[in-house]
Amino acid sequence: MTRVPLSRPPVDDEIKQAVLAAIDSRQYVLGPQCRQLESELAAAAGVKHAVLTSSATAALWLSLRALGVKAGDEVLVPSHTAFPTVEAICAAEATPVLVDADAFYTLDPADAEAKATPRTVGILPVHLYGQPVDLDAVQDLASRLGLWLLEDCAQAQGAEWKGRPVGSFGRAAVFSFYPSKNLPGMGDGGAVLTSDDEVMARCRRLRDHGRIDRDVHAEIGFNLRYSELQAAALRVLLRRLDAMNDRRRLLAERYARGLAGLPLVLPEERPHARHVYHLFVVRTPRRAALARFLNEREIQTGVHYPVPSHRQPALERLAPAPLPRTERLVDEILTLPMSAAHEDAEIDRVIAAVRDFFSA
Ligand SMILES: Cc1ncc(COP(=O)(O)O)c(C=O)c1O
Repeated sequence: MTRVPLSRPPVDDEIKQAVLAAIDSRQYVLGPQCRQLESELAAAAGVKHAVLTSSATAALWLSLRALGVKAGDEVLVPSHTAFPTVEAICAAEATPVLVDADAFYTLDPADAEAKATPRTVGILPVHLYGQPVDLDAVQDLASRLGLWLLEDCAQAQGAEWKGRPVGSFGRAAVFSFYPSKNLPGMGDGGAVLTSDDEVMARCRRLRDHGRIDRDVHAEIGFNLRYSELQAAALRVLLRRLDAMNDRRRLLAERYARGLAGLPLVLPEERPHARHVYHLFVVRTPRRAALARFLNEREIQTGVHYPVPSHRQPALERLAPAPLPRTERLVDEILTLPMSAAHEDAEIDRVIAAVRDFFSA
């Protein structure tokens, strides 16, 4: 029996041809493929600019620097996220203030408001698993408290809130092209999207050693540039993004029908949201036993994420407060296989195995 992987990046001749053409061009860093991809990414999200970077972690750090954060500034961020969201705040020398999750596993705006202080400068919500955060509540909070809004869209490229793509609601947004993401690259990659000319210009400069021309460096940046080979592959895949997200949504419906009636909490789509199911995450108190059972049947699962940010040793010095909803959910969540390239039959195999587990 072949193993059902958690995720499967697409590979085909059209993608290979695009990469081969980029190899032949002999331009490998921030060349014409990158420039065209930047225009196409910005157009797809309905913003003015995109700045490609070596990863979404780099994009977060660049955006935070471009937004002007400094030591002592506080940034509201969900504890329940991939650690890089929080790590980038620390790398930019600001202080993350960790917020509890709401019923949809994303940042709880009420808890964020309760944790704001006079030192709070911004809010960094994460559209987790492909589901938009409550953007009405988050935008309202940001405007009432005078905070900038930076959207972490690493898991939600193509998701929408009230029919508008995520990434167009804040001062800036970051995206990831890690191979399991909704827009899957052939390695690490990311981008900052923004309609703010100053944020764009500062991100471009910081991405390339703070350089303002070949020999003059206006500030200390770093090398966070992007590859032409990767950009060539991503341009092919960006044209397929909507179709790939539709496919993920179909597979999510298939799971929902197949798993209905079991003692298992299924993902729910928030009203006004178009969820793009980067991950298909279910909940059960019997998480470990279910994961073992599926592994024995050659089905890969994951836990995103078992250790919430406020319990990470790296942040112990901040003495973060307990977050009851986050702590409860991280013990029960389990990620089932999901990607645009999964076959119906693979999803049916996962459904049958989960049903067997609960009827045993
Ligand atoms: C929500 C979120 N933010 C940021 C990142 C960092 O992305 P990258 O691996 O491209 O640096 C990830 C990666 O998993 C993520 O899931």
